[in-house]
Amino acid sequence: MADRLRFGLIGSGSQGRYLSQALALTGQADLVACADPNEEAAQKAVRECGYETAYADAEEMLGQEELDAVIVATTHDQLQPAAMAAVRAGKHAFVEKPMALTAADGRKLVAEADRAGVKLMVGYTLRFMPERILLKKLLDSGAIGDTCHVIAGQLIGHLGGWLGDSARGGGPLMYVGSHVIDQVLWVVGQSARRVFAEVERPSKEDVEAAASLTIQFEGGVVAQVCTSQKMGGRYGWLDVIGSGGRLRSEWESNVLYIESREFDSYRHPTEIEVPADPYLPPVVAEPIVSVTGIKYVRMWAAEMTDFIGAIREDRPPATTGDDGVRVLEIIDAVFKSGRTGRPVGL
Ligand SMILES: NC(=O)c1ccc[n+]([C@@H]2O[C@H](COP(=O)([O-])OP(=O)(O)OC[C@H]3O[C@@H](n4cnc5c(N)ncnc54)[C@H](O)[C@@H]3O)[C@@H](O)[C@H]2O)c1
Repeated sequence: MADRLRFGLIGSGSQGRYLSQALALTGQADLVACADPNEEAAQKAVRECGYETAYADAEEMLGQEELDAVIVATTHDQLQPAAMAAVRAGKHAFVEKPMALTAADGRKLVAEADRAGVKLMVGYTLRFMPERILLKKLLDSGAIGDTCHVIAGQLIGHLGGWLGDSARGGGPLMYVGSHVIDQVLWVVGQSARRVFAEVERPSKEDVEAAASLTIQFEGGVVAQVCTSQKMGGRYGWLDVIGSGGRLRSEWESNVLYIESREFDSYRHPTEIEVPADPYLPPVVAEPIVSVTGIKYVRMWAAEMTDFIGAIREDRPPATTGDDGVRVLEIIDAVFKSGRTGRPVGL
């Protein structure tokens, strides 16, 4: 395989461009072509990220260019069809969360990628957050005993544009709730058995204002998750309570809280300041354009590094298509439970 992989981008909006800049920082990719029906967005990706050619139509790009892999970062309704086109064309695909609008569509994408023999990775970036990596390591080393209960949430300000349109896959549950659900599934590591949800929806057509849900797992763990666009703030939290202590990580903070009856050094409530360096791979240059902070660029670069590693080493990526489907199964169940007022078995 060549030293550098040839990449294309489908969906040249803000996240597509951030990921492309992070990809460039890995030093392992050539940014060949980008596609977006919005010409301004595609041209921005050429200017800001260094793509050589811009297309209005992704299918045309896939037909014309010799690409090894693509990043798919469209509006939610187009993620699955665009990723389907990419894997059918034999390209490895990194698809942004939530990957599809339903678990059934997510499964079709996984099956198509398997048939084509290409890698499929889903953009659950929070798994690359240094504090969350350390939290998972501590959990796995038994620092708080057996996991019993998880409380997690992510709040976001009012969602406008396509993110306020249910037909395009908008709403806080799809947009940020998907991240939180993936985090919960990751730390619990058991199969989900039942979901019960309260979904607050101002009118039939609108996206939900908030969704609060309970997930019961096969091994007995219960998780409570809250996601909302009502409070205006952008807070996120993950609390894991175990038989021998507790761990807490807050979104955007590099402090991890721990209290442990298992490890003497954490017997009293302790704040661990988590540096990025041991957890995120080095990047070879400063970002081309300053985006939302070097930590996020490095997290996205870590995602891209893992995706490239999965392709080169022929191994599964850190966040697989099946991980994406498991999140969508919960989201399907949340919407169903919200409609019916009943728990939904999985
Ligand atoms: N993992 C993260 O940290 C993170 C952060 C923000 C957004 N995201 C995800 O990234 C994706 C994009 O979000 P965004 O904020 O960049 O939105 P955006 O509106 O800025 O960009 C989406 C772009 O996709 C384009 N598009 C729509 N249909 C297309 C098609 N068929 N082919 C090509 N382009 C098409 C639109 O014209 C637009 O330019 C979403 O899935 C979102 O959830 C992930």
